[in-house]
Amino acid sequence: KKDQYILGIETSCDETAVAIIKNGREIIANVVASQIESHKRFGGVVPEIASRHHVEQMTIVLEEALNKASMTMNDIDAVAVTEGPGLVGALLVGVNAAKAIAFAHQKPLIGVHHIAGHIYANRLIKEMTFPALALVVSGGHTELVYMKAHGDFEVIGETRDDAAGEAYDKVARVLNMPYPGGPHIDRLAHEGEATIKLPRAWLEEGSFDFSFSGLKSAVINTVHNAEQRGETILPEDLAASFQESVIEVLVTKTLKAVEAYDVKQLLLAGGVAANKGLREALTETFKNKEEIDLVIPPLHLCTDNAAMIAAVGAIMFEKGMFSDMSMNANPGLDI
Ligand code: KG4
Ligand code: ZN
Repeated sequence: KKDQYILGIETSCDETAVAIIKNGREIIANVVASQIESHKRFGGVVPEIASRHHVEQMTIVLEEALNKASMTMNDIDAVAVTEGPGLVGALLVGVNAAKAIAFAHQKPLIGVHHIAGHIYANRLIKEMTFPALALVVSGGHTELVYMKAHGDFEVIGETRDDAAGEAYDKVARVLNMPYPGGPHIDRLAHEGEATIKLPRAWLEEGSFDFSFSGLKSAVINTVHNAEQRGETILPEDLAASFQESVIEVLVTKTLKAVEAYDVKQLLLAGGVAANKGLREALTETFKNKEEIDLVIPPLHLCTDNAAMIAAVGAIMFEKGMFSDMSMNANPGLDI
Protein backbone atom coordinates (compact mmCIF):
# COMPACT_ATOMS: atom_id res chain seq x y z
CA LYS A 1 0.00 0.00 0.00
CA LYS A 2 1.22 3.46 -0.92
CA ASP A 3 2.31 5.76 1.93
CA GLN A 4 -0.13 8.55 2.78
CA TYR A 5 1.09 12.10 3.43
CA ILE A 6 -1.25 14.75 4.86
CA LEU A 7 -0.41 18.43 5.15
CA GLY A 8 -2.07 20.10 8.16
CA ILE A 9 -2.71 23.80 8.75
CA GLU A 10 -3.76 25.36 12.08
CA THR A 11 -4.50 29.07 12.67
CA SER A 12 -7.45 29.05 15.09
CA CYS A 13 -5.83 31.20 17.78
CA ASP A 14 -2.31 32.55 18.25
CA GLU A 15 -0.09 29.92 16.62
CA THR A 16 0.53 29.72 12.88
CA ALA A 17 1.28 26.06 12.30
CA VAL A 18 1.91 23.71 9.36
CA ALA A 19 2.80 20.03 9.62
CA ILE A 20 3.20 16.98 7.42
CA ILE A 21 2.46 13.51 8.75
CA LYS A 22 2.91 10.08 7.22
CA ASN A 23 0.32 7.28 7.45
CA GLY A 24 -1.63 9.09 10.15
CA ARG A 25 0.89 8.65 12.93
CA GLU A 26 4.41 9.69 11.96
CA ILE A 27 5.48 13.34 12.14
CA ILE A 28 7.63 14.33 9.15
CA ALA A 29 7.55 18.10 9.84
CA ASN A 30 5.84 20.13 12.56
CA VAL A 31 6.42 23.90 12.40
CA VAL A 32 4.77 26.27 14.90
CA ALA A 33 5.22 30.06 14.83
CA SER A 34 4.00 31.41 18.15
CA GLN A 35 2.66 34.95 18.49
CA ILE A 36 2.68 34.94 22.27
CA GLU A 37 5.25 37.77 22.46
CA SER A 38 2.97 40.09 20.44
CA HIS A 39 -0.07 39.48 22.65
CA LYS A 40 1.70 39.49 26.01
CA ARG A 41 1.57 43.23 26.60
CA PHE A 42 -2.21 43.18 26.12
CA GLY A 43 -2.63 40.37 28.65
CA GLY A 44 -4.41 38.10 26.19
CA VAL A 45 -4.90 37.29 22.52
CA VAL A 46 -5.97 40.32 20.45
CA PRO A 47 -7.96 38.87 17.52
CA GLU A 48 -6.97 41.57 15.01
CA ILE A 49 -3.28 41.17 15.78
CA ALA A 50 -3.60 37.37 15.55
CA SER A 51 -5.13 37.56 12.06
CA ARG A 52 -2.42 39.90 10.81
CA HIS A 53 0.37 37.69 12.13
CA HIS A 54 -1.18 34.62 10.51
CA VAL A 55 -1.21 36.42 7.14
CA GLU A 56 2.46 37.37 7.56
CA GLN A 57 3.58 33.93 8.72
CA MET A 58 1.46 31.55 6.65
CA THR A 59 3.61 31.14 3.54
CA ILE A 60 6.84 31.21 5.55
CA VAL A 61 5.68 28.42 7.86
CA LEU A 62 4.32 26.39 4.93
CA GLU A 63 7.63 26.60 3.07
CA GLU A 64 9.55 25.70 6.20
CA ALA A 65 7.43 22.58 6.74
CA LEU A 66 7.90 21.41 3.14
CA ASN A 67 11.64 22.13 3.36
CA LYS A 68 11.99 20.21 6.62
CA ALA A 69 10.23 17.25 5.02
CA SER A 70 12.27 17.65 1.79
CA MET A 71 8.98 17.54 -0.07
CA THR A 72 6.95 19.52 -2.57
CA MET A 73 3.17 19.72 -2.78
CA ASN A 74 3.35 16.91 -5.38
CA ASP A 75 4.17 14.49 -2.56
CA ILE A 76 1.11 15.49 -0.51
CA ASP A 77 -2.15 13.49 -0.71
CA ALA A 78 -4.49 16.01 0.94
CA VAL A 79 -4.63 19.36 2.73
CA ALA A 80 -6.30 19.37 6.17
CA VAL A 81 -7.12 22.62 7.95
CA THR A 82 -8.78 23.74 11.17
CA GLU A 83 -12.26 24.85 10.12
CA GLY A 84 -13.33 25.81 13.68
CA PRO A 85 -13.92 26.59 16.47
CA GLY A 86 -11.65 29.56 17.13
CA LEU A 87 -11.25 33.24 16.29
CA VAL A 88 -13.03 33.83 12.98
CA GLY A 89 -10.40 36.16 11.51
CA ALA A 90 -7.61 33.81 12.51
CA LEU A 91 -9.39 30.72 11.15
CA LEU A 92 -10.06 32.49 7.85
CA VAL A 93 -6.35 32.83 7.12
CA GLY A 94 -5.74 29.09 7.47
CA VAL A 95 -8.91 28.09 5.63
CA ASN A 96 -8.16 30.38 2.70
CA ALA A 97 -4.54 29.26 2.54
CA ALA A 98 -5.67 25.61 2.51
CA LYS A 99 -8.24 26.26 -0.21
CA ALA A 100 -5.67 28.09 -2.33
CA ILE A 101 -3.07 25.33 -1.97
CA ALA A 102 -5.60 22.54 -2.56
CA PHE A 103 -6.96 24.28 -5.65
CA ALA A 104 -3.56 25.18 -7.10
CA HIS A 105 -2.19 21.66 -6.67
CA GLN A 106 -5.47 19.80 -7.24
CA LYS A 107 -5.44 18.08 -3.84
CA PRO A 108 -8.44 17.07 -1.73
CA LEU A 109 -9.38 19.52 1.01
CA ILE A 110 -10.35 18.37 4.53
CA GLY A 111 -11.96 20.58 7.21
CA VAL A 112 -10.96 19.56 10.74
CA HIS A 113 -12.48 20.35 14.14
CA HIS A 114 -9.87 21.90 16.44
CA ILE A 115 -10.82 19.76 19.45
CA ALA A 116 -10.74 16.59 17.37
CA GLY A 117 -7.20 17.71 16.58
CA HIS A 118 -6.24 18.04 20.24
CA ILE A 119 -7.60 14.53 20.86
CA TYR A 120 -5.72 13.08 17.87
CA ALA A 121 -2.41 14.47 19.15
CA ASN A 122 -2.53 11.25 21.19
CA ARG A 123 -2.47 9.09 18.06
CA LEU A 124 0.95 10.54 17.22
CA ILE A 125 2.15 8.85 20.43
CA LYS A 126 0.11 5.67 20.52
CA GLU A 127 -2.49 3.87 18.40
CA MET A 128 -6.01 4.44 19.71
CA THR A 129 -8.08 1.64 21.21
CA PHE A 130 -11.84 1.98 21.59
CA PRO A 131 -13.95 2.77 23.46
CA ALA A 132 -11.80 5.71 24.53
CA LEU A 133 -12.39 8.80 26.62
CA ALA A 134 -10.60 12.11 26.09
CA LEU A 135 -10.21 14.80 28.73
CA VAL A 136 -9.88 17.97 26.68
CA VAL A 137 -8.61 20.95 28.67
CA SER A 138 -7.56 24.05 26.76
CA GLY A 139 -7.88 27.82 26.80
CA GLY A 140 -11.29 27.64 25.12
CA HIS A 141 -12.60 24.19 26.06
CA THR A 142 -13.05 21.78 28.94
CA GLU A 143 -14.77 18.62 27.79
CA LEU A 144 -15.01 14.89 28.34
CA VAL A 145 -15.37 13.27 24.93
CA TYR A 146 -16.39 9.63 24.49
CA MET A 147 -15.22 7.82 21.35
CA LYS A 148 -16.54 4.48 20.08
CA ALA A 149 -14.48 4.58 16.89
CA HIS A 150 -12.26 6.85 14.82
CA GLY A 151 -13.97 10.15 14.08
CA ASP A 152 -16.91 9.34 16.39
CA PHE A 153 -17.10 12.00 19.12
CA GLU A 154 -19.73 12.26 21.86
CA VAL A 155 -19.39 15.10 24.35
CA ILE A 156 -20.52 13.63 27.70
CA GLY A 157 -19.51 16.64 29.81
CA GLU A 158 -18.41 20.21 29.24
CA THR A 159 -17.82 23.47 31.07
CA ARG A 160 -20.87 25.59 31.80
CA ASP A 161 -18.81 28.78 32.05
CA ASP A 162 -15.03 29.28 31.93
CA ALA A 163 -12.66 26.78 30.37
CA ALA A 164 -9.92 25.44 32.65
CA GLY A 165 -7.18 27.31 30.76
CA GLU A 166 -9.24 30.49 30.83
CA ALA A 167 -9.50 30.21 34.64
CA TYR A 168 -5.72 29.70 34.82
CA ASP A 169 -5.11 32.77 32.67
CA LYS A 170 -7.50 34.95 34.70
CA VAL A 171 -6.06 33.85 38.04
CA ALA A 172 -2.57 34.53 36.70
CA ARG A 173 -3.65 38.05 35.80
CA VAL A 174 -4.82 38.69 39.37
CA LEU A 175 -1.40 37.53 40.55
CA ASN A 176 0.28 39.90 38.05
CA MET A 177 1.75 37.17 35.91
CA PRO A 178 2.24 37.39 32.13
CA TYR A 179 -0.03 35.82 29.50
CA PRO A 180 -0.54 32.91 29.09
CA GLY A 181 -0.68 32.35 32.82
CA GLY A 182 -1.14 28.57 32.96
CA PRO A 183 2.52 27.57 32.96
CA HIS A 184 3.37 30.31 35.54
CA ILE A 185 0.65 29.20 37.96
CA ASP A 186 1.73 25.59 37.46
CA ARG A 187 5.33 26.44 38.39
CA LEU A 188 4.30 28.63 41.34
CA ALA A 189 1.88 25.96 42.62
CA HIS A 190 4.78 23.57 43.07
CA GLU A 191 6.51 26.07 45.39
CA GLY A 192 3.52 26.57 47.69
CA GLU A 193 1.14 24.73 50.01
CA ALA A 194 -2.59 24.37 49.28
CA THR A 195 -3.57 26.03 52.57
CA ILE A 196 -6.29 28.38 51.28
CA LYS A 197 -9.81 27.01 51.24
CA LEU A 198 -11.36 27.25 47.77
CA PRO A 199 -14.56 25.76 46.34
CA ARG A 200 -14.92 22.71 44.09
CA ALA A 201 -17.83 22.73 41.64
CA TRP A 202 -19.14 19.16 41.64
CA LEU A 203 -22.55 20.20 40.19
CA GLU A 204 -25.43 17.68 40.28
CA GLU A 205 -24.80 14.08 41.24
CA GLY A 206 -23.69 12.13 38.17
CA SER A 207 -22.98 15.19 36.03
CA PHE A 208 -19.78 15.17 33.96
CA ASP A 209 -20.05 18.93 33.38
CA PHE A 210 -17.58 21.42 34.80
CA SER A 211 -17.69 24.96 36.15
CA PHE A 212 -14.66 27.10 36.93
CA SER A 213 -16.05 30.64 37.21
CA GLY A 214 -16.96 30.24 40.90
CA LEU A 215 -13.44 29.11 41.70
CA LYS A 216 -11.97 31.98 39.69
CA SER A 217 -14.16 34.49 41.58
CA ALA A 218 -13.20 32.92 44.91
CA VAL A 219 -9.52 33.45 44.09
CA ILE A 220 -10.13 37.07 43.06
CA ASN A 221 -12.15 37.71 46.25
CA THR A 222 -9.44 36.13 48.40
CA VAL A 223 -6.87 38.52 46.93
CA HIS A 224 -9.09 41.60 47.28
CA ASN A 225 -10.19 40.78 50.84
CA ALA A 226 -6.59 40.29 51.91
CA GLU A 227 -5.64 43.63 50.33
CA GLN A 228 -8.45 45.40 52.18
CA ARG A 229 -7.50 43.88 55.50
CA GLY A 230 -3.83 44.60 54.90
CA GLU A 231 -3.05 40.90 55.16
CA THR A 232 -0.53 39.17 52.94
CA ILE A 233 -1.27 36.00 51.07
CA LEU A 234 1.60 34.03 49.62
CA PRO A 235 0.98 33.87 45.84
CA GLU A 236 2.51 30.40 45.76
CA ASP A 237 -0.02 29.16 48.33
CA LEU A 238 -2.88 30.68 46.38
CA ALA A 239 -1.58 29.11 43.17
CA ALA A 240 -1.22 25.72 44.90
CA SER A 241 -4.75 25.96 46.36
CA PHE A 242 -6.25 26.97 43.00
CA GLN A 243 -4.42 24.22 41.15
CA GLU A 244 -5.46 21.62 43.71
CA SER A 245 -9.12 22.56 43.26
CA VAL A 246 -8.94 22.42 39.44
CA ILE A 247 -7.09 19.10 39.38
CA GLU A 248 -9.26 17.43 42.02
CA VAL A 249 -12.42 18.13 40.02
CA LEU A 250 -10.88 17.22 36.65
CA VAL A 251 -9.40 13.94 37.89
CA THR A 252 -12.41 12.86 39.96
CA LYS A 253 -14.90 13.46 37.14
CA THR A 254 -12.61 11.80 34.60
CA LEU A 255 -12.26 8.71 36.79
CA LYS A 256 -16.05 8.50 37.23
CA ALA A 257 -16.57 8.83 33.46
CA VAL A 258 -13.93 6.16 32.73
CA GLU A 259 -15.84 3.78 35.01
CA ALA A 260 -19.33 4.75 33.82
CA TYR A 261 -18.41 4.30 30.15
CA ASP A 262 -16.10 1.34 30.67
CA VAL A 263 -13.40 2.71 28.37
CA LYS A 264 -10.13 1.02 27.43
CA GLN A 265 -8.10 4.15 26.84
CA LEU A 266 -7.90 7.59 28.42
CA LEU A 267 -6.47 10.39 26.30
CA LEU A 268 -5.34 13.74 27.69
CA ALA A 269 -5.62 16.71 25.34
CA GLY A 270 -5.35 20.51 25.04
CA GLY A 271 -3.00 23.20 26.33
CA VAL A 272 -3.77 22.56 30.02
CA ALA A 273 -2.65 18.96 29.45
CA ALA A 274 0.84 20.48 29.72
CA ASN A 275 0.09 21.06 33.42
CA LYS A 276 2.60 19.19 35.55
CA GLY A 277 0.22 18.78 38.48
CA LEU A 278 -2.55 17.36 36.26
CA ARG A 279 -0.19 14.94 34.50
CA GLU A 280 1.11 13.70 37.87
CA ALA A 281 -2.37 13.35 39.39
CA LEU A 282 -3.71 11.38 36.40
CA THR A 283 -0.64 9.15 36.30
CA GLU A 284 -1.00 8.47 40.03
CA THR A 285 -4.76 7.81 39.80
CA PHE A 286 -4.46 5.31 36.94
CA LYS A 287 -1.16 3.72 38.05
CA ASN A 288 -2.85 0.63 39.47
CA LYS A 289 -5.61 0.41 36.88
CA GLU A 290 -3.97 -1.78 34.28
CA GLU A 291 -7.18 -2.19 32.31
CA ILE A 292 -7.06 1.55 31.45
CA ASP A 293 -4.39 2.70 29.02
CA LEU A 294 -3.56 6.31 29.96
CA VAL A 295 -1.95 8.31 27.14
CA ILE A 296 -0.38 11.71 27.83
CA PRO A 297 1.18 13.52 24.86
CA PRO A 298 4.47 15.42 25.22
CA LEU A 299 4.13 19.15 25.94
CA HIS A 300 4.71 20.37 22.36
CA LEU A 301 1.78 18.26 21.14
CA CYS A 302 -0.55 19.46 23.92
CA THR A 303 -0.54 23.11 22.88
CA ASP A 304 -1.79 24.18 19.44
CA ASN A 305 0.03 22.60 16.50
CA ALA A 306 -0.79 21.35 13.00
CA ALA A 307 0.43 17.75 13.35
CA MET A 308 -2.71 17.03 15.39
CA ILE A 309 -4.87 18.56 12.62
CA ALA A 310 -3.11 16.43 9.98
CA ALA A 311 -3.67 13.36 12.22
CA VAL A 312 -7.45 13.90 12.05
CA GLY A 313 -7.09 14.65 8.33
CA ALA A 314 -5.50 11.22 7.83
CA ILE A 315 -8.56 9.46 9.27
CA MET A 316 -10.97 11.65 7.28
CA PHE A 317 -8.93 10.97 4.12
CA GLU A 318 -9.37 7.21 4.65
CA LYS A 319 -13.10 7.73 5.09
CA GLY A 320 -13.35 10.03 2.05
CA MET A 321 -14.66 12.90 4.16
CA PHE A 322 -13.66 15.83 1.96
CA SER A 323 -14.76 19.44 1.84
CA ASP A 324 -15.33 21.49 -1.28
CA MET A 325 -14.33 25.05 -2.09
CA SER A 326 -17.38 26.40 -0.25
CA MET A 327 -15.79 25.45 3.08
CA ASN A 328 -15.69 28.48 5.37
CA ALA A 329 -14.19 29.32 8.75
CA ASN A 330 -16.75 28.31 11.38
CA PRO A 331 -16.01 29.79 14.82
CA GLY A 332 -18.90 27.84 16.41
CA LEU A 333 -18.30 24.48 14.69
CA ASP A 334 -19.70 21.43 16.57
CA ILE A 335 -17.55 18.37 17.04
O1 KG4 B 1 -4.86 24.30 23.54
P1 KG4 B 1 -4.23 25.63 23.69
O2 KG4 B 1 -2.81 25.80 23.22
O3 KG4 B 1 -5.08 26.71 22.96
C1 KG4 B 1 -6.47 26.62 22.91
O4 KG4 B 1 -7.00 25.93 22.01
O5 KG4 B 1 -7.10 27.21 23.82
O6 KG4 B 1 -4.36 26.01 25.25
C2 KG4 B 1 -3.86 27.21 25.77
C3 KG4 B 1 -4.17 27.24 27.25
C4 KG4 B 1 -3.88 28.59 27.92
O7 KG4 B 1 -5.01 28.95 28.69
C5 KG4 B 1 -2.68 28.29 28.81
O8 KG4 B 1 -2.62 29.10 29.97
C6 KG4 B 1 -2.93 26.85 29.16
O9 KG4 B 1 -3.38 26.27 27.96
N1 KG4 B 1 -1.70 26.18 29.65
C7 KG4 B 1 -1.57 25.68 30.89
C8 KG4 B 1 -0.25 25.16 30.98
N2 KG4 B 1 0.35 25.33 29.77
C9 KG4 B 1 -0.56 25.94 28.95
N3 KG4 B 1 -2.43 25.68 31.93
C10 KG4 B 1 -2.01 25.12 33.08
N4 KG4 B 1 -0.76 24.62 33.25
C11 KG4 B 1 0.14 24.61 32.25
N5 KG4 B 1 1.35 24.10 32.43
ZN1 ZN C 1 -6.18 24.48 21.09
